[in-house]
Amino acid sequence: MLETITAPAPEPRAHVVVVANEKGGTGKSTTAMHLIVAALRQGFTVASIDLDAGQGSLTRYIENRARFGVRQDASLPLPHHAVFAASNADSRAAAAEDERQRLAALVADLAPRFDCLVLDTPGGDTPTVREAITYADTLITPVNDSFIDLDLLGRVEGNPPKIVSPGRFSAVVWEQRKLRAQRTGGSIDWVVLRNRLTTLGSRNKAAMADTLQELSKRVGFRPADGFGDRVIFRELFFQGLTVLDLREEGLGFELTLSHVAARQEVRRLIEFIGLAGKIAPAERPGKARLSVSLQTGPGAR
Ligand SMILES: Nc1ncnc2c1ncn2[C@@H]1O[C@H](COP(=O)(O)OP(=O)(O)O)[C@@H](O)[C@H]1O
Ligand SMILES: [Mg+2]
Repeated sequence: MLETITAPAPEPRAHVVVVANEKGGTGKSTTAMHLIVAALRQGFTVASIDLDAGQGSLTRYIENRARFGVRQDASLPLPHHAVFAASNADSRAAAAEDERQRLAALVADLAPRFDCLVLDTPGGDTPTVREAITYADTLITPVNDSFIDLDLLGRVEGNPPKIVSPGRFSAVVWEQRKLRAQRTGGSIDWVVLRNRLTTLGSRNKAAMADTLQELSKRVGFRPADGFGDRVIFRELFFQGLTVLDLREEGLGFELTLSHVAARQEVRRLIEFIGLAGKIAPAERPGKARLSVSLQTGPGAR
């Protein structure tokens, strides 16, 4: 069979962030939305792709944001957003090929035009999610703080827990990293983010941290500090807001200690990824740096 060769993306290209985990409900869309707004607030142009058109959480989040901005008369920065529709080809192979080609075309179209490209993916191991991972300069995998979630990264057995082999999702990332290297010679910075951390110190939590540290060396990711389990992350969806927006005048939020802590967690992730250092719009020939449309308050970015 003839292998299709994907042409390298035209330069200059966006920094591509893919948020993926084989498991659903780990905070992928929430993380994607916070990354998008963080990048926008740093003055970068951002395009986003919702590969989970079935659930459409990211798309709904962005629609809610646009609507809320109009209603409150606040100019909340928005990404250029694309919904990636699933193929309706009748065989699985034809659908995978159709999606592969459309994703390549979409990325090739957006990457030269934006500073940052954020792809949100559905849970589950599909050819299209695998394909999306090969475009990642940064791959972010949010995991809930339980050994069930960790199992996809590494098989852990016994007490105290011992890693016996790489998990299923780690094997997927390994394969896609090889493909990526073959195609463009590039590498993927894989960041695993613990999400919904509880404040209670527990033996389980400490064991998770140790195991994740150990696993990170075995399967090649960087463990990030993570987000606490905070109501605010759930509450903002309907307004399309992120914890980075809360300081804005007129949005009607009283900033609580938990909000401040949440903002710090998100900022820490952005720093950990090193987004600002990886996107250098000012250096791009013939490309003016976009100014942020929102008047930022003290401490806001
Ligand atoms: N750090 C957090 N604290 C509290 N709730 C969270 C947190 N992260 C995500 N959630 C909630 O968990 C649910 C699943 O998150 P979502 O981002 O949709 O996951 P995924 O995209 O992986 O399916 C949502 O209701 C979301 O609001
Ligand atoms: Mg989602």
